[in-house]
Amino acid sequence: MLSNSIIELDRAHLVHPVASYRGHEKLGVRVLSSASGATVTDMSGRQLVDGFAGLWCVNAGYGHHSIVEAAARQMRELPYATAYFGLGSEPAIRLAAELAERAPGDLNHVYFTLGGSDAIDSTIRFIRYYNHARGTPERDQFISLEQGYHGSSTVGAGLTALPIFHAGFGIPFDWQHKIPSHYAYRNPVGTDPQAIIDASKQALRSKVEEIGPERVAAFYAEPIQGSGGVLVPPPGWMKAMRDLCHELDILFVADEVITGFGRTGPLFACSEDDIVPDFLTVAKGLTSGYVPMGAVLMSDHVYNTIADGAGAAAVGHGYTYSAHPVSAAVALEVLHLYESGLLENGRRAGRRLMAGLQELADHPLVGDVRGRGMLAAVELVIDKTAKTPLPAAADPARRIFDRAWDNGLVLRAFGNGVLGYAPPLCCTDADIDAIITRTRKTLDQTLEDPDVRVLLA
Ligand SMILES: Cc1ncc(COP(=O)(O)O)c(C=O)c1O
Repeated sequence: MLSNSIIELDRAHLVHPVASYRGHEKLGVRVLSSASGATVTDMSGRQLVDGFAGLWCVNAGYGHHSIVEAAARQMRELPYATAYFGLGSEPAIRLAAELAERAPGDLNHVYFTLGGSDAIDSTIRFIRYYNHARGTPERDQFISLEQGYHGSSTVGAGLTALPIFHAGFGIPFDWQHKIPSHYAYRNPVGTDPQAIIDASKQALRSKVEEIGPERVAAFYAEPIQGSGGVLVPPPGWMKAMRDLCHELDILFVADEVITGFGRTGPLFACSEDDIVPDFLTVAKGLTSGYVPMGAVLMSDHVYNTIADGAGAAAVGHGYTYSAHPVSAAVALEVLHLYESGLLENGRRAGRRLMAGLQELADHPLVGDVRGRGMLAAVELVIDKTAKTPLPAAADPARRIFDRAWDNGLVLRAFGNGVLGYAPPLCCTDADIDAIITRTRKTLDQTLEDPDVRVLLA
C-alpha cells in the first residue's frame, strides 16, 4: 500500500536525472530503503550487492556510524557558515589543508563546490580568469576527449562528449573541441600502448594547430574515462599528455571525480600516473556520497596568477554552499576511514575483482575486460573477432540491468553493452565473489535473450 503510493508520487512529481521521462513513468521507480557495507535493500526487502557504489561515489560503503556522528556533531555545533566576507569554519579549513597535503605536487589551493559538475564549471571560470590575469584573454578554447564525461552543467556539459548530454541543449559551444579517446579496445591504431599514446599526442597537436596555438586554454582528461565506458588508457598516457600540454603551454585539468579517493588504488589516480596537473577536480568519494561536496584543487602558479591579477578586487566566483561545514566534517571523517584501512582493503578487493572479471573472458559474450583497482568494465560483443556490439534491439541498458537486479546485483549497464563496476572499497571477499557469480549468471541469461541469440546463430 505504502509502496504503491510512493511509486505513484514518484511518477507524478520526481524528475529523474538522465532518464527517459515517459519510459520511467511506464516502468516506475525502484525505491531503496536502507544499506549497510556493500549491500543495499529495496522497499520490498530484496538485498543486493551494490557493485556500483551508488553512482560510483559511496567509496567507503554504507552505514559508517562515525560519519553519521561527524555530520550530527557539526550540525549541532555549526550547521552552516558562509565562506564569503572573509568568514570560514574549522572543518572546511582543515579539509582544504588535508587535501593540499595529500594531493600531488603544488596543488595547494582548494575551492569547494557541491559536486563534480560545478567543480568542472568552476575550472572553466578560473581558467578564463587566469588567462585574463595573464594578459592572454585570447586563450579561450578548450579541448577534451571523445567519450569523456565532465558533468552536466550548462557549460561543462559541452566538454562532456556523450551525445545525449548535447542533443536538444544547444551545446557544445564553438570553443569546445574534442580529440579521439585512447579507447584501446577499439582504437584504429590497434592495441599497442605506444601507438595509442603517439596517436593521442598527434591528435592533440593537430587540434591545437587547427585552432591556433595561441588560442588554446586547456586540455581536460579523466585518468580513466568513466561514463564513456570505463576506458583505461595505457600506462604512461596521462604523463605523455601532461608533458605535451606543458610543451604547448596549455593548462592540464585532471578530472578525478570518479578516480579520486581510492577508486583506482591510491587517494588520487594522478599520483600513480606520476603527474601534477594544473587543476584537479574531485567530488563523489570526497564525502563518499553521504552529503554533497566537490572541490577544485589549483596549483600554486594558477592561484598566484589569479590572485595577483585580481589585486584588491574580488574574484567574482562563489556559491552559498562552498566550503559547507557539515560536508567538510563528513569529508574529514571519510578521509580518516580511507587512511585507516579502507584504501588498503580496496586495493585487495580490487585485485580480486579484476581476477574474477578476467575469468569471465571465456564467456561467449565477453569481448574485453578492463579496469584498475575498484573501477572496471566488461564489454559485451556478439562476435569477438569483429567486436560487434550487442544490438540496440536487445536493449542492453535496461535488460541487463534488470537481470542483474533480479540476481541480486547492482551494476552499471551502458547502452552499448558495456557493464561498469565500481563497488565500495569496503567489499569483503564474499561481496566480490557475489559480484562475479551474479555477473556470470546475468551473462548466461543475456545469451538466451532472443534478440541476442538470433545474431549468434
Ligand atoms: C569525471 C566526472 N566529472 C564530473 C562529473 C559530474 O559530477 P556530478 O554528477 O557530481 O555533478 C562526473 C559524474 O559522474 C564525472 O564522472
